[in-house]
Amino acid sequence: MNNGSNIIFEAKGITKRFGGVTALEDVDLQVHEGKVNVVVGENGAGKSTLMKILSGVYADYGGQLFFKGEAVHFNNPKEAMAQGIAIIHQELNLIPYLTISENIFLGREIRTPLGVLNTKQMHSKTQALLTRLNCHLSPNTLVGALKVGEQQLVEIAKALLEEAKVVIMDEPTSAISDTEVATLFNIIRALKEQDVSLLYISHKLDELFQIADRFIGLRDGKMVGTLEQAAKATKEDLIRLMVGRDLKHLFKKEAVPMGAEILRVENLNLRINKAHQASAHRLKNIHFKLRKGEVLGIFGLMGAGRTELLETLFGLHAKDMTGSISIASEQVHIRSVMDAIAHGMALVPEDRKEDGLVLQMEIAKNVSLASMGKITKNGVINAKSEMTLAKKFIETLHIRTPSERQHAKNLSGGNQQKVVLAKWLATHPKVLFLDEPTRGIDINAKNEIYHLINALAKKGLGLVVVSSELPEIMAISDRILVLANGSVSAEFNQENAHEEKIMQAATQ
Ligand SMILES: Nc1ncnc2c1ncn2[C@@H]1O[C@H](COP(=O)(O)OP(=O)(O)OP(=O)(O)O)[C@@H](O)[C@H]1O
Ligand SMILES: [Mg+2]
Repeated sequence: MNNGSNIIFEAKGITKRFGGVTALEDVDLQVHEGKVNVVVGENGAGKSTLMKILSGVYADYGGQLFFKGEAVHFNNPKEAMAQGIAIIHQELNLIPYLTISENIFLGREIRTPLGVLNTKQMHSKTQALLTRLNCHLSPNTLVGALKVGEQQLVEIAKALLEEAKVVIMDEPTSAISDTEVATLFNIIRALKEQDVSLLYISHKLDELFQIADRFIGLRDGKMVGTLEQAAKATKEDLIRLMVGRDLKHLFKKEAVPMGAEILRVENLNLRINKAHQASAHRLKNIHFKLRKGEVLGIFGLMGAGRTELLETLFGLHAKDMTGSISIASEQVHIRSVMDAIAHGMALVPEDRKEDGLVLQMEIAKNVSLASMGKITKNGVINAKSEMTLAKKFIETLHIRTPSERQHAKNLSGGNQQKVVLAKWLATHPKVLFLDEPTRGIDINAKNEIYHLINALAKKGLGLVVVSSELPEIMAISDRILVLANGSVSAEFNQENAHEEKIMQAATQ
């Protein structure tokens, strides 16, 4: 017993090394039964690694796990699942060319007594799970046709399929919008009532206070302490636990003198045909202007068209769009991403694994990928310039890695996001589109990225930033466009921007 709580799951003296990198050192962790146990820590602190050990993903580590007081060792996630331990990973693990239902039942298909796949039953069970998550997608939808946020809901459904005793959620809300977060939190509360224990990781500190019962702090691979009564803790307490010091100034945008018009969008429309979906008018009649030195924030709920807007401007939907795009007051025809890059545009996408990062490649190669011209001489890549470029960004963006030669797949989630950012900054764009640039990034690094956005604006770039975090978009933008159902439903400036009014415009 501890503070009146039963310890259902415990880790003692856990150590985990990857080659020369010590990800965890002598870590003790206790999971209190029927509670939401929140783990906080900066990017690369070791949170995901610890969760992977608890859920059987890594079988090779120092130390010992105890489930209900008994020493246990899981060789794989299936063995952990058999004890009732389920995990929703930070990185999505779905197969794009299978349907939602097929993904959920992959490896645990229901069969008829004759051994034939019982598609009907799997379909109806999937439907029930999706309904429970307040999600209106058909179980037959191909996962490849879903947005990141929708895929995350499928991951959650997948974990809830089996009766779990301990549910581990590694940044489940990083890609879903406020309404879905509210749904998820209701699910978490319902699970708690059924005495399910949760281990929960998130960098969205504000929302943690809604569900946390206790906080556990990890720093540089070591356990630094706990705050046993979440209700009594403040945001400052939490930051101190994570970072080890007070973060004095949270970001406030500096006024930057604005220059000439750099981007103008007129009457932009987008119609997309997707598998299993009728042709949809995804963007309707969008107009806006952007000046040099200006940061335009785009806010909207999941499905509002935020990502499609950036993608369309960046030449990704050339065939399906109509309307006009002008750069520095001259109309341009952007038929492909190559055209967009040639016109000085760059897009840092929301899903780093899909379009941002080549996981099998070194950091240095990833960073130089979109600016080969600058480091290539007579067709030969100058390896030294490539390394110098990567080193510069590792330093300025504080990418936590032993070297620029490290493979991207070995970085923590937040550090991967920074590599994608570095890759597009290296192209020296005139117009920079950022889609959820701080998704999965810790509070310290978030502040660094806000300062970077400000510094880029100061240099004369025009920036368009999509974010589903209201405090973030209010802090960084000069102007905010709100999208709802593919149209601009409102525009705010720094004076009249209020959280409630923006939310209202988004839910129209
Ligand atoms: N497979 C791997 N090979 C080499 N190093 C790894 C591997 N997995 C993780 N690491 C390193 O271990 C450390 C901890 O990583 P981990 O993913 O656990 O961090 P995290 O706390 O989840 O961070 P984030 O908030 O960014 O997701 C990091 O320095 C990371 O680079
Ligand atoms: Mg992680």
